[in-house]
Amino acid sequence: MEPIFALSLSIPVRLAFRNFPLITLILTVTLMWLMVIHQEKQGQPEFDSSSDFNTDEHRQAQDLEKDTNGFIFTSFSSESRCTLQGLLPELPFSRSRFDNKRIIRIFDYVRTGKSWENLVNQYSICLATQSSLDRIKHIPELLKTWRGPVSLAVYITNEEEWLMLNLYIRFLERCYPSFGNQVSIHLAVPSSLDQFCFKEGVLEKWEANQATIENKYQCHEVHDFMNLLISTFPITEKAKLALKEVYPQNHMRNIARKGCATDWTFSTDIDIIPSEGLAENLQEFYDSLKENRINCEKCAYVIPTFELEETQPFPKTKRELIACYESGAARQFHGKYYSTAHNATNFPLWASTNLEDGPVTLSHNVTSSQTFLYEPFYVSSDLIPPFDERFLGYGFTRNSQFQAAFYAGWNFTVLTPVFNIHPGLQTHKTVISPKKEGVGKNVRKEQTSRNYQIFKKVLKEMKLKQAEGIF
Ligand SMILES: *[C@@H]1O[C@H](CO)[C@@H](O)[C@H](O)[C@H]1NC(C)=O
Ligand SMILES: *[C@@H]1O[C@H](CO)[C@@H](O)[C@H](O)[C@H]1NC(C)=O
Ligand SMILES: *[C@@H]1O[C@H](CO)[C@@H](O)[C@H](O)[C@H]1NC(C)=O
Repeated sequence: MEPIFALSLSIPVRLAFRNFPLITLILTVTLMWLMVIHQEKQGQPEFDSSSDFNTDEHRQAQDLEKDTNGFIFTSFSSESRCTLQGLLPELPFSRSRFDNKRIIRIFDYVRTGKSWENLVNQYSICLATQSSLDRIKHIPELLKTWRGPVSLAVYITNEEEWLMLNLYIRFLERCYPSFGNQVSIHLAVPSSLDQFCFKEGVLEKWEANQATIENKYQCHEVHDFMNLLISTFPITEKAKLALKEVYPQNHMRNIARKGCATDWTFSTDIDIIPSEGLAENLQEFYDSLKENRINCEKCAYVIPTFELEETQPFPKTKRELIACYESGAARQFHGKYYSTAHNATNFPLWASTNLEDGPVTLSHNVTSSQTFLYEPFYVSSDLIPPFDERFLGYGFTRNSQFQAAFYAGWNFTVLTPVFNIHPGLQTHKTVISPKKEGVGKNVRKEQTSRNYQIFKKVLKEMKLKQAEGIF
């Protein structure tokens, strides 16, 4: 029997069998009988000994037959458990590529947005973002306000996550047409993973729960659906180990950025929500620079980022945002914990410039005296230095990139009246030790102190490069 056919047959049959054993038995036996007759008519024996059906599998099939009272559930062959014929899109490992240090394996464009071509022609700015599996649930929020192209790099560490990612993508495609249209996905896995082979029981578990998994949740329950997936496929020991390993943030940022085929990129974190219509607003700004023949090669434009109390509605205009800012419901991103991250944007000054809706204009320059550990979200051409891939995990990942740009002579100017919002105020807990299954609470601290040692050396390197003019 063809494996693909067997696969597609076995799933519904098992479900049906559980619920209506007798009817299913009769129907299936009839169907099998018809198939045997059909095959015999074509002169093919049912199990051709010359085919690649080996004896072990033959024995397994016979055992299965016994176990199920003569009712054959054709098992997956051990091979199809790895290649997932017909079940999930295959990942072409033969066409993947490695990062420079062979830490990760990269698959570009595992999924291309349906409107990708049009969007990339229409917009000169693409939003580049990255995520682990558990954080993809933020993307529908982001797509409410951003209508340009999105290049999303996703890091997964094992087969189960690949299965979950596919189920989640299917859910997002069904529920959010904007996701289907705007988002192209690039995938990265640890380089040690050179094929996907499912552990005994994982696919069976998926089959058994398929109806619940796919249909139970309503479209707005994006977070609940991800939580369900995570609890249906509890984290394996292997995945736990992988989680303790570092998430290669800067690799992922670079992959996402390189996946943008536009002049400018807007590299953000996945939980950062742009102000309404940001893509269109930035496009107008971009066009006006072109019209006025302002061609600043080393200019980057900062979009001020605020954090907002969960209970507050999303501000539609700068004026609404400033009202929140003045009441304390909004503050600069990381304002309370780790204020150096965004302070150089100068929020008090921005709050006083151009409150009117209207075209994007320059608010003020970021001045050099206060930019140490600065990590703004900005748009720029992709000629700006990449994220330094020597930093793995948390700490100094974005600010080291800002420093490199700064030493390379880039100027940063803050735009108005556009902005970004991080929903929820940052607390000590969210910054230092966010809860993540299987991860000890000191993981971020350890990674940060390791990266600090690297940062000190990298700073010296940057200063040398600047002095030698080799940026
Ligand atoms: C950046 O700013 C400095 C000083 O403010 C100025 O001298 C330089 O020309 C600017 N560079 C660019 C590329 O605009
Ligand atoms: C943050 O920026 C404001 C405005 O530029 C400045 O007055 C203040 O001293 C800065 N705070 C820190 C901690 O750098
Ligand atoms: C930013 O600095 C440049 C020179 O470095 C100056 O020409 C420009 O006017 C400044 N922009 C603003 C908005 O202050």
